Amino acid sequence: MDKNKQITLSFMADRSYFISEAFKSLRTNILFCGSDIRCIAVTSVLPGDGKSTVSLDIAKSFSDTGKNVLFVDADMRKSVNAVRHKISGSFPGLSEFLSGQACFTDIITETQTPFLNMVVSGMFPPDPVELLGNNRFSEFIDKCRRIYDYIIIDTPPLGAVIDAAVVAPRCDGVIVVIPEGKISSKLAVSVKDQLEKSNCRILGAVMNFAKSGNDSYKHYYSSKNP
Ligand SMILES: Nc1ncnc2c1ncn2[C@@H]1O[C@H](COP(=O)(O)OP(=O)(O)OP(=O)(O)O)[C@@H](O)[C@H]1O
Ligand SMILES: [Mg+2]
Repeated sequence: MDKNKQITLSFMADRSYFISEAFKSLRTNILFCGSDIRCIAVTSVLPGDGKSTVSLDIAKSFSDTGKNVLFVDADMRKSVNAVRHKISGSFPGLSEFLSGQACFTDIITETQTPFLNMVVSGMFPPDPVELLGNNRFSEFIDKCRRIYDYIIIDTPPLGAVIDAAVVAPRCDGVIVVIPEGKISSKLAVSVKDQLEKSNCRILGAVMNFAKSGNDSYKHYYSSKNP
């Protein structure tokens, strides 16, 4: 790892006490899935459902407890992380590792958050599915498991491309992000079926963009815990 390179990430949980609490309870739910659940893919049906946002905050939430966490951007097609987090400079990422152009230590980058490292997606490769399906991806996950307590993997939407169905079987489980009121149940079920056919363990769904509808509750707790 190049100690001179550090990524500064921005998190949803920093925006409000209420969001921070929601991610803590999500973390608790994941912990109750079992101690063998350490490598988790995050996907959804459509673009913009909130996968990158939710997966990064899940990663942060685990690192807040002092666990060693790696956040992997496996959306090699259309990663928004470089722009969203204003990542400047050239960081070799997952695509460079999978295509043999970079070694494991080259692609691990520190973030401003203690215990949270990141692997960026890298350059857009001609065939992401082929790269994710080869042995080098399994090798990558094996190495990550030896070093990190938790590996959280952001993927593209499963309703559009099959990358997540290639990544998730190599993980211990997958979380599906569902934007409230945006996805038909038929579409959500088709993605569930696709994940199950690929032998993925679905840990659960995260309802994103949900309205809290309980401001007094939020105010009560935020005023006690500023
Ligand atoms: N709970 C939320 N509340 C408010 N804004 C959100 C929430 N979740 C996501 N967003 C915003 O919605 C937009 C899309 O989110 P994000 O990039 O995480 O989706 P995605 O599923 O990763 O999209 P893609 O499939 O294109 O990769 C972003 O601008 C993000 O900041
Ligand atoms: Mg995304």
